[in-house]
Amino acid sequence: MGEGLLSDPSRGLDAPTTKLTQGDAFPRVAGELRCGALPLGQLAERFGTPLYVYNGPAIDERYLAFSRAFAAVAHLIAYSVKANGNLTILRRLASLGSGADIVSGGELYRATLAGVAANKIVYSGVGKSRREMVAALHEGIYSFNVESAMELRLLAECARDLGVEAPFALRINPDILSPAPHAYTRTGHLDTKFGVPASEAVGLYRWARNAQGLRVQGIDVHIGSQVLEVEPYVRAVRQLLELADTLRADGIELEYLDMGGGFAVRYDEQGGMDVGELARALIPEVTEAGLKLVLEPGRAIVAEAGVLLTRVLYLKRSGRKTFVITDAGMSDLIRPSHYGGYHHIEPVGETAEHAVELVDVVGPVCETGDFLALDRLLPLPEPGELLAVRTAGAYGFAMTTNYNGRPRPAEVLVDGSLARLIRRRETLDDLVRGEVGELE
Ligand code: LLP
Repeated sequence: MGEGLLSDPSRGLDAPTTKLTQGDAFPRVAGELRCGALPLGQLAERFGTPLYVYNGPAIDERYLAFSRAFAAVAHLIAYSVKANGNLTILRRLASLGSGADIVSGGELYRATLAGVAANKIVYSGVGKSRREMVAALHEGIYSFNVESAMELRLLAECARDLGVEAPFALRINPDILSPAPHAYTRTGHLDTKFGVPASEAVGLYRWARNAQGLRVQGIDVHIGSQVLEVEPYVRAVRQLLELADTLRADGIELEYLDMGGGFAVRYDEQGGMDVGELARALIPEVTEAGLKLVLEPGRAIVAEAGVLLTRVLYLKRSGRKTFVITDAGMSDLIRPSHYGGYHHIEPVGETAEHAVELVDVVGPVCETGDFLALDRLLPLPEPGELLAVRTAGAYGFAMTTNYNGRPRPAEVLVDGSLARLIRRRETLDDLVRGEVGELE
C-alpha cells in the first residue's frame, strides 16, 4: 500500500474494520448451497432457470459497511445503478439512504421511480443528450459530472432555456493507469474517452464561473472498475484536492469531491477491497479540505450478494475437451466472454460422488465465445444438476441481452425464508414487443 496517510493508522478515526467480504451470502448447509434459509435447489424448482438470486440482507450489509466506514466525513453514497438497476434493489438501497450514480435518462427514470431522492443523484457519462440533460434538470438532481467542454456548453444552454442553474462537477481524467484487471474497465488514463485532462480543468472552471446557467458544485474522478488497491484512489484524490486548492485561490469554492467507484470484490480467493482501509486513507485529507465526499460503488454493493443459477443440459466430449453445456450462456452473463472475467462455479447439491474433471462450462448461444468458464476443475455434474455461478449480482442481469432469441432470466430476492420474484422471466411475446410493421 502507498505511503503517507496510509502508513499512519494512528489518526484516531473511528473507521471500524469493514471488509466488504463479510459473510458468505450463499453458504453450503448440509451439502447444499443456500440463500438465507432457502436451498437454491428449491428456488430453481419454483422459479426455473437460468435464475438470478440475490440475498437482500447481504446487499444491506455491504451498503452499511460503506456508510459506517465513512461516517466521520460528510458523504453521499451514490450507488452506481449500472451494476444492477432492479427497482426493488434500488428501492431497498434508497430506503437505507443511498443516492444514485446514473449514466442515462433511462437510469434517471429507474432511480426516481424507485424513490431515490433527486438531490442524491449524480449524473456521469461522456454522451449525455440534450433531452437527457433537460430531464435531469427537471428532476433537480444533485450534480452533473461533466466530461467535456462541449458537454459543459450544452448543459449551460439547456439550463438557461429552463431558467435554472445546472450544478456540475468536472470529471477529471487523472491519467492514472488503474490496476483494473481488464483494459475495458480502466478509465483513468488519457487514452480513454473519460473525463477532462487536468491541464484543461482550471480554465473550464474559470469559464463556467461567469457562464450563465451553470453552478460550480464539485470535482469528480473515476479511475476504473474492480480496482484492488487503495493507493490509486489516494493518488487520484490528492490530484483533485490540489486542483480544488488552485480553484479556491481563484475564488471558486467547491462543495464536494466525487471519488467514483470501482472498489474490488472477491471473484476468486484473491482480493476484495477493505473499505475501512479506504476510508482511513481518504477521510483526513478530504475533511481538512472541507469537502463533502461522494462515492459511487456499484459492484461492491451487489456483486457478492448475487448468484446465477443454471441447469446442466448436456455433457459432451470433443477433441481434448469436456464440455458442460448449461441453460445459461453469454446472453445471461457476458462477463466471462467479454472481459475474460472469472466467476467461481460450483454445484448446488452434494458432489462427493462426482469425479473432478477439467471442463469448459458453455452456454447454448451459437458463438465459440459463449462460455461461463474455460479449463475449470469441477466435480463433473450430471445432466439436470444445478450449478451456481457466483459473484454475479453486479453486471450480471444488467448486461443481459436477447441475442439468439433468448428471453432474459428471472430475478429473485431472498430475505431469510422469504423469496420474492422481483423480475419475471421474459416470455416469447417480450422478445418481439416493440417491433412494428410486418404484422399490420
Ligand atoms: N462511477 C462511474 C463513473 C463508473 O463509470 C462506474 C463503472 C462506477 C462508478 C461503478 O463501478 P463499480 O463500483 O461497479 O466497479 N461491466 C464491467 C464494469 C464496467 C464499469 C463501468 N463503470 C464489468 O462487468 O466488470
